[in-house]
Amino acid sequence: MEIKAPRGTNDIMPDQAKSWYELEKKAVSLFERYGYGRIVTPTFENTALFERGIGESTEIVQKEMYTFTDKGGRSITLRPEGTAPVVRAYLEHNLSGQPMPVKLYYLGSMYRYERPQAGRCREFWQVGVEAIGSADPAIDAENILLLIHYLDYVGISDLKLLINSMGCEKCRPDFVSDIKKKLGKSKDLLCNDCKRRAEQNPLRVFDCKKSKCREALKKAPKISNYLCDSCSGHFDQVKSFLKEAKLSFEQDPWLVRGFDYYTKTTFEVISEELGAQNALGGGGRYDGLIEEFGGASTPAIGFAIGIERVLLALSKQQKKEKKMPGLQVFVIALGEKAKQKTFRLIYDLRKVGISADMDFQERSLKGQMKLANKRNAEFTVIIGSDELERNVCGIRNMEIGSQDEIELDKCVDWFEVNLCKKEQNIEKK
Ligand code: HAM
Repeated sequence: MEIKAPRGTNDIMPDQAKSWYELEKKAVSLFERYGYGRIVTPTFENTALFERGIGESTEIVQKEMYTFTDKGGRSITLRPEGTAPVVRAYLEHNLSGQPMPVKLYYLGSMYRYERPQAGRCREFWQVGVEAIGSADPAIDAENILLLIHYLDYVGISDLKLLINSMGCEKCRPDFVSDIKKKLGKSKDLLCNDCKRRAEQNPLRVFDCKKSKCREALKKAPKISNYLCDSCSGHFDQVKSFLKEAKLSFEQDPWLVRGFDYYTKTTFEVISEELGAQNALGGGGRYDGLIEEFGGASTPAIGFAIGIERVLLALSKQQKKEKKMPGLQVFVIALGEKAKQKTFRLIYDLRKVGISADMDFQERSLKGQMKLANKRNAEFTVIIGSDELERNVCGIRNMEIGSQDEIELDKCVDWFEVNLCKKEQNIEKK
């Protein structure tokens, strides 16, 4: 019998593991730069943690959790997300004594029994952060900024940022009650699950993907019309910090997100490249969760990013740009003698770890230039008869267009220094 990997899971093979490792490494370096420290929590938790944390009537708790009874008779669940476990650990290890906000980040696998499709898996990986202990709108904006900074850092372009405010325990009840009334009028449109949700927890109808349920929500009241002074003041400040950072965003009054714990700011970053599963990452404020778990009333906010979706977006982007990855130096030779020098030079460059190539089709100067462009070379080196006579070569930085002329014997050293400098600058970005 042939045994295959379970549906919705992926093997990460050596060719992908490199990009995978890059994404993790960049998360670690960026999150630490923003003052977050790493936390590792167990892959499974007591089921009650998620039932209470995420909310009994959410899609995740109702339909998507991998729950089983262990040999000791306990109900155990593979974590479907990282926030509830981090909050549990924060309380269990009395981190409230530390200077606030306590900033924690995590990398790990999550499990949801969803219908697998591109960008939607049953085992998937997230990198995420939680900042516990600050109600300051600046930390909301910093979280959003960090999410965008990370996606930008790993090379994703064309992002759309959606934001909303979910209100608080003071202003949300009126909104929920009006949604309930509205849904009551279009009950016939709702699926059986949403009929129940409309009664128990009307906001969860927003999670339903069925077209009729979405239609029932059309013309539903908007939370923005219900926010109390404190919530709308908070939201205004978040927006003004985002504007200060020159981040463009769109307000989406339907951005409810699938967890009961959210209060005030919610946000999501989407990429049109991804099709139906277009959210690369998302998060929000959860000011009531720590109290819900028995701690003191403590505001908090965080987000998580899906690694599989980031990789998918990157690969679609690269296909579109038709990029051949990774060529650092293309050496252009003019004439047979120059070709001999070039042959030796690319070998020397490769020996010190620099990717280098040359023409093997007897192309003209123009043809070689074109090829260097097609290969997305970071630098081109030109060796012609004039250069050979003077024992020099011309170096062109293809990104900024600058030119240098250096001695041929110093060429490898020059690249070692300059490519290393460039990498350090990218790391710092
Ligand atoms: P989430 O929106 O459920 O939020 O997940 C965050 C990201 O994980 C999504 O934007 C997506 O990229 C990825 N993701 C979710 N489900 C799947 C799946 N089935 N397959 C592949 N990728 C997936 C949370 O998990 C919250 N805990 C975020 C948060 C942190 N809120 C506050 N703090």
